Amino acid sequence: MQRLLTNSGPIAHLSGVGPLTGEIEDLDKHIWSAGLGILVENGVIKRIAPSNELSSEYTGVEIIDLGGKAIVPGLVDSHTHLLWAGDRSREVSWKQQGFSYREIALKGGGINATVKPTRDSTDEDLRLIGIDRMQEALRNGTTHMEAKSGYGLDTKTELRLLSIGNQLNGIRKLPTLDLTWLGAHSAPPSSNIPDYCEEILSDQLPAVLDQGIARSADVFCEPGWFNVEQSEDILKASRSGGLDLRIHIDEFVDGGGGDLAAELSVTTADHAHYTNPNSRDSMSKAGVNTGFLPGTPYAMGDDYPPFQDCLDNNWAWSFASDFNPNCRTLSLPFLGSVLVQRNDISPIASLAACSRNSAETTPHPSGLKHGMICEGAIANLNIVNSPWWEAWCLQPGHSPFYATMLAGDMIYH
Ligand code: NIG
Ligand code: FE
Repeated sequence: MQRLLTNSGPIAHLSGVGPLTGEIEDLDKHIWSAGLGILVENGVIKRIAPSNELSSEYTGVEIIDLGGKAIVPGLVDSHTHLLWAGDRSREVSWKQQGFSYREIALKGGGINATVKPTRDSTDEDLRLIGIDRMQEALRNGTTHMEAKSGYGLDTKTELRLLSIGNQLNGIRKLPTLDLTWLGAHSAPPSSNIPDYCEEILSDQLPAVLDQGIARSADVFCEPGWFNVEQSEDILKASRSGGLDLRIHIDEFVDGGGGDLAAELSVTTADHAHYTNPNSRDSMSKAGVNTGFLPGTPYAMGDDYPPFQDCLDNNWAWSFASDFNPNCRTLSLPFLGSVLVQRNDISPIASLAACSRNSAETTPHPSGLKHGMICEGAIANLNIVNSPWWEAWCLQPGHSPFYATMLAGDMIYH
């Protein structure tokens, strides 16, 4: 099956090897001028060449004339809590009364307030919730997303969440998924962190490994939740079982998670809001990606993490939605607007952070390149509703995309 995109506007292709770091001054390296065509065959980008050249060479294939609209890569959301039920909207008034995230959890809100409705949901409820959220992500240009468990907090429900995630992965015309086990998200209502850690190590993790339903493990390493030693035990046991490692660190305070992330050379250390510069440097030397999650400070009314420090120090970084009951956006373009229009980060650095760089931590199930536009990559790309590629992050509250090509299929928004 061949399909030809003709008359493209500028293409922010971002192709190359490894994450893009530092100031990305030389736009000529990352943007092709208007006038190209893209030939797609069986879901893979086969050729990129001047539009008229491809049109005369490939007659009889389906042609989609883009009329000068710009193209950016399919976006990769490298940190989501996709599957949960319930609604915590009432917590907004507690936030506005000045209660902290921790205090809200102790008042009966927070993660554990999501566990009961999630446990009480049927598999079918959760499947439909997942499909609805994946469609919303796709409307906003996400073509691949990481999806964590973490609202079951018992072996049975954590396994259910991962197994439903696996069922949702690979459905045509929905983003693909990369499954992460986050059993160590909080202690369940009936337990405490030390006892739950034992249960995780003796029962839950072996069951997850046995079923082979997660590619990675994650831990919420933060004072008040899992401390550095507990996180280390869980992550080391996960790695011994063959899982790739991710970690939540320093969301509210510098709790020492950065040094642990560096010591274990985890793939990505996320939030990393209050991490000190020495730990950031150690993380970078150990090849750890910094995964900023700007939706959470947006929802909490907090200030933003130091994106610019990463650019100034050539540290690899990405950003993702952190979609969860406390931060309910699935729109990377909206968060791109937060980086660009509130934090003075350039549109190209912001785009790289949620495409090429996030793809580095979150591989595509096909094994093909993604998060960039080049020959041989999976045909995941977004057609912007503008002749300017920068428009991808300049329409907060709306999808900036006219259409998304997902593994070669055209989805019009
Ligand atoms: O990454 N902080 C830990 N986990 C989620 C929030 C979970 C929740 O509040 O339900 C996060 O922000
Ligand atoms: Fe998270």
